[in-house]
Amino acid sequence: MTDWTDAARKLAEEITAAAPEWHDSVSSTPRHQLVPRWWEPIPDSYPFAWGLRTPQPDQPWAETYADETLVTRVGSLHADRADLSDRPTGLPTSSSTLPGLIVRMLHLLNPGKQDRVLDVGTGSGYSAALLAHRLGGQQVTSIDVDPYLVDAARERLAAFGRQPHLEVADATRSLPDADYDRIIATVSVRPIPPAWLEALRPGGMIVTTIIGTSLLISAQKHADGVARGRVQPESATFMRTRRETDYPARLDNVYDAARDQPGTETRQLTGTLPDLWEDWELRCLYELDTPDVENRSATRDDGSQLLWLLATDGSWARADSETMTVHQSGPRRLWDDLERVQARWTAAGHFPLHGMTVELGADRHTLTSPDGTWTLEL
Ligand SMILES: C[S@@+](CC[C@H](N)C(=O)[O-])C[C@H]1O[C@@H](n2cnc3c(N)ncnc32)[C@H](O)[C@@H]1O
Repeated sequence: MTDWTDAARKLAEEITAAAPEWHDSVSSTPRHQLVPRWWEPIPDSYPFAWGLRTPQPDQPWAETYADETLVTRVGSLHADRADLSDRPTGLPTSSSTLPGLIVRMLHLLNPGKQDRVLDVGTGSGYSAALLAHRLGGQQVTSIDVDPYLVDAARERLAAFGRQPHLEVADATRSLPDADYDRIIATVSVRPIPPAWLEALRPGGMIVTTIIGTSLLISAQKHADGVARGRVQPESATFMRTRRETDYPARLDNVYDAARDQPGTETRQLTGTLPDLWEDWELRCLYELDTPDVENRSATRDDGSQLLWLLATDGSWARADSETMTVHQSGPRRLWDDLERVQARWTAAGHFPLHGMTVELGADRHTLTSPDGTWTLEL
């Protein structure tokens, strides 16, 4: 069996070419000790389910030192506490993020040797491990809403000599301490909690992502208390913050009504059916405009497509490319909202979302298109 350090060094070479200051942290961090077991999707399972994975005896480092996300908790079941026969069907509620993305975000964060850093979303402890290696444990605070994750990470990090300050906290509420030079979040938020801006020193940086979008933003706090920055060129998608042990159930009850009922309004579909999976920019803009709409899609054998939009208030829409119709129901007209956003984005020249500017003030957080004509509230 080869030593894990060869695998870690290889990973460091692969992912730190543009961020060489993180090379030694990656090559000296035993990710396999932080992620001894994880969940993998079971191919062709219906409903979609997860199965437990442990390192393969003949290639013990292949997965833990690949630049891949390892899902460690599904619904309320952590892989550490699962049996081989468990087949959870929920959403991931914790993971060890792909190391390359952590390194890109840390490079953006650019902490100085004396800086105090808050790592939001301890998860497996991997990001805290890299930070503690580079800055020393006393400079790093890492928080997670889940007590088991915090305890497990503390014990595992200590086993290889990293001792950041770890604490159980809901990052959407108050923070332990209120004095950081850098805040990095590997869990998505919306809005950016006011406590984060209050806790950040002037000149400090925030690197985070926005719920329901793949927008990675970085912003620096100015002397006037406002943090200003940009949507970064790379995409990053993180699970959303939660306050409970699991996320609320998906909108199956709304889908039951939306699946094939006529609804209260039926009209012609104008134009082609958007592919909200492929067209991630439209999906982000729609999410920013009309938050928390769940979308589902299906393709029939003849290639025609269906798209459903579902909301917690019972509003739904269904568009069908075969009949070229749209059905809508409930208090809001979700398809009309999608068309409005699509038309506005077309009129705005399909600007790159990665060029948007970010402004995080005391009572207003905004993203603005490069030409300044479209401002979206966070
Ligand atoms: C993608 S994981 C973090 C990955 C981690 N940084 C790593 O390197 O392994 C996201 C984490 O955010 C945590 N989380 C979710 N909601 C939270 C909240 N409200 N406050 C703090 N942490 C939260 C989850 O429990 C989960 O462990």
